[in-house]
Amino acid sequence: GPTRFYDFKVQTRRVSKLCNTKDIVTINGMYPGPVVYAQEDDRIIVNVTNRTPYNVTIHWHGVRQRLSCWYDGPSYITQCPIQSGQSFIYNFTVVKQKGTFFWHAHVSWLRGTVYGAMIVYPRIGINYPFKIPYEEHIIILGEYWVKDLVQIAKATLASGGSPPTVDAYTINGHPGPNYNCSTNDVHKIDVFPGKTYLLRLINAGLNTENFFTIANHKLTVVEADAEYTKPFVTNVVMLGPGQTLNVLVTADQPVGKYSMAVAPYKNAKIVIYQNILAIAYFQYKGAAAYSLLPAKLPKLEDNHAVKTVMDGMRSLNQVNVFKEVDENLFITIGLNVQKCHSKTPKLNCQAKNGVMLASMNNISFVQPKLSILEAYYKKINGSYTEDFPDEPAKRYDFVNGAPNKIPYNTQSSNGTRAKVLEYGSKVQVILQNTGTVNIENHPIHLHGYSFYVIGYGTGNYDARTAQFNLVDPPYMNTIGVPVGGWAAIRFVADNPGVWHMHCHLEIHLSWGLGMVFIVKNGKGELKSLPAPPPDLPQC
Ligand code: C2O
Repeated sequence: GPTRFYDFKVQTRRVSKLCNTKDIVTINGMYPGPVVYAQEDDRIIVNVTNRTPYNVTIHWHGVRQRLSCWYDGPSYITQCPIQSGQSFIYNFTVVKQKGTFFWHAHVSWLRGTVYGAMIVYPRIGINYPFKIPYEEHIIILGEYWVKDLVQIAKATLASGGSPPTVDAYTINGHPGPNYNCSTNDVHKIDVFPGKTYLLRLINAGLNTENFFTIANHKLTVVEADAEYTKPFVTNVVMLGPGQTLNVLVTADQPVGKYSMAVAPYKNAKIVIYQNILAIAYFQYKGAAAYSLLPAKLPKLEDNHAVKTVMDGMRSLNQVNVFKEVDENLFITIGLNVQKCHSKTPKLNCQAKNGVMLASMNNISFVQPKLSILEAYYKKINGSYTEDFPDEPAKRYDFVNGAPNKIPYNTQSSNGTRAKVLEYGSKVQVILQNTGTVNIENHPIHLHGYSFYVIGYGTGNYDARTAQFNLVDPPYMNTIGVPVGGWAAIRFVADNPGVWHMHCHLEIHLSWGLGMVFIVKNGKGELKSLPAPPPDLPQC
């Protein structure tokens, strides 16, 4: 396909919102940032120039970066950050991929404001496998803080505690009328009666999983994480940070003004209406003075997020996932207030008591000083080790046994450990969420791949009773591992490089909820990672 060129100037911009004015970091002064458009198999070239005092990288979330790991973007994983005054040209092809993606900063908490949509259309002459929509709209769910986000991140991490509650949830940067000084700060979509619209939903939020719904209208999910799904109809969807969903909605209700509403998962149990925070309008053309009418509000029931997002989710076509696996990993997701105690002698309890800490298989991920990919490629020692464990330190009591049992799995030590995979190996990972306290899933995101979500459940994973779907499981890049539950994923490690797998709740990543896979080269150029680009930023 052709090449699409984009110029990204990282710059601050003054924004007035919620009765407050401040500078935020943006791309080209836009918030949300510019939309990157392409078609399947196109090359995308983005020249990123950093005109801020902060370190920057950009990640193309969901793009599998076939043989182009150098352009994946996570800071200190595949590249050193682009420093103030420097630039870097991202150059990659969306090989056999199409759908709704997004890009975001992947350094510190900058993605709180530095994000945008990336839309990849099918090749010319290829239609969507569903009714052609009359129009398409991008709907990005986000979060907004009145205070400076860089300062908030610093203070939160220094305190060892949880981040402050966000000041507003947003839809395309607009909070909607429910907040102070926000009556007119509302995103609106005009619709014609009887027409069908495609909404490209993206959750770009830092720290919240969100429900999305439209008053009185049904949503038909047709794509998840930039892969088609069997269409299914629902009143409400849930998106973890890092997830994208395409839904069709037909303007089939009496002419009027309807609310599109966002509510955070954590608040889902609170009374109807109080939990609806961000609002945008889905407003019918032809309604007399429609803009003066009060918008109809939807009802958000106490939906369990797991069911809401995963029930009914199937690949559009039969896929037949491989049956034998070469690598069988069991990875616990630990999150707790660190408590070193005498019964964990083998683990080096390094963190201070009372500090929040997160881990995978008892290893709390620490970002190295040099990018792991560069260290791996140039064989530089000291930046990481290759001993990420295949299972947790103690393979029992995964789910928090409190108050009688200490959850051993949440004892952790710091490390920058990689799991090395042979080229082409067939990998299964059981992700076990050990948390039962916070009402939240962990949206686990894998770079460089999509994976089949072959199984999913609550409680502890049990190989004897787990049901796997190897016929038409959804093919995703981010999976919300349910609270006190598990998810099973499979992928073929055929894309060489260093690939981050981490929780897409930013605070959890900061606390160490991540790891990396190193996928070795195969034989020949078509199975090997090329040399780094000459302008690769230096640390
Ligand atoms: Cu969208 Cu590593 O993230």
